Amino acid sequence: MTRTTDLVALNDWYVVAFTSEIPKGHSETTVLLGQSLVIYRGWDGEFQCALAHGDGHPPPLVRQKYGFLWVSLGRPDHDIVSVPEFSEHERRFIHRGRIGVPSSGQRVIENFFDLSHFSFVHTGTLGGYESAEVPKYSVEFREQERELWAVGCSFVQPKASAAAGAASTIYYDYRIPSPFISIIYKDSLVRPGRKDLIGLFIQPHDEESCTVHSFALVHDEQNVSTHILHFYHEIFAQDRSILLHQTPKKLPVSPRREIPTISDASSIAYRRWLDRSGLQFGLDRASA
Ligand SMILES: [Fe+2]
Repeated sequence: MTRTTDLVALNDWYVVAFTSEIPKGHSETTVLLGQSLVIYRGWDGEFQCALAHGDGHPPPLVRQKYGFLWVSLGRPDHDIVSVPEFSEHERRFIHRGRIGVPSSGQRVIENFFDLSHFSFVHTGTLGGYESAEVPKYSVEFREQERELWAVGCSFVQPKASAAAGAASTIYYDYRIPSPFISIIYKDSLVRPGRKDLIGLFIQPHDEESCTVHSFALVHDEQNVSTHILHFYHEIFAQDRSILLHQTPKKLPVSPRREIPTISDASSIAYRRWLDRSGLQFGLDRASA
């Protein structure tokens, strides 16, 4: 495996573990952007991260935030994404674990905020055949184009969450603050007017494989965590089976290739936004 030379990819922050996944006094080997890393947790609970094969590269930067361990292999010109809802104590934090996917991180992110797949992939929970049409929503760029948002999304969902008792129209906003992070802000069914968050932090191992670290910040006092987790894992297993069969694994950004349907305004915006970012890693830039 070869470390990427893509500076746009190198100069970003990535989650490589949830801190409690590595017990004190243990180490773990992982791969980020083609670079093998050794993560070591001392008996004092502090983390160290070293390149398995340095080859003259500087040591990685390591931070702990939101319960996750973040690493940058380069020199990021921005901080780790700000998610103020992590410090709102009335929410329940649910660590959804880490799941490997044999595809690019960008394929996982694009699938996450594609509303048109709900009815056909998550039939009976996030969508149904009788309400397959995607209502209009808008795409916005925020923070000087650093962030892509799809706002005003809505969908009739038979069972929108573990807490759902009946079908309802759910309103969403999607935030993509980095090519490898997406957070959905979704109507709470328990607290009207409040949003639940579900987020994906992608660790790209190479251009065609990644691990998805994910979390939820929800208003749900009724369901036990295992019940909520079961709901999420069922949904993600359905997504994973779709991702396994998408080719090419790298996300095409040339507008002439694999043109999404008209309902995928957010997919088109994501691909154009990635193209303008200068990122090469995980993208298929070949023209048709
Ligand atoms: Fe999905």
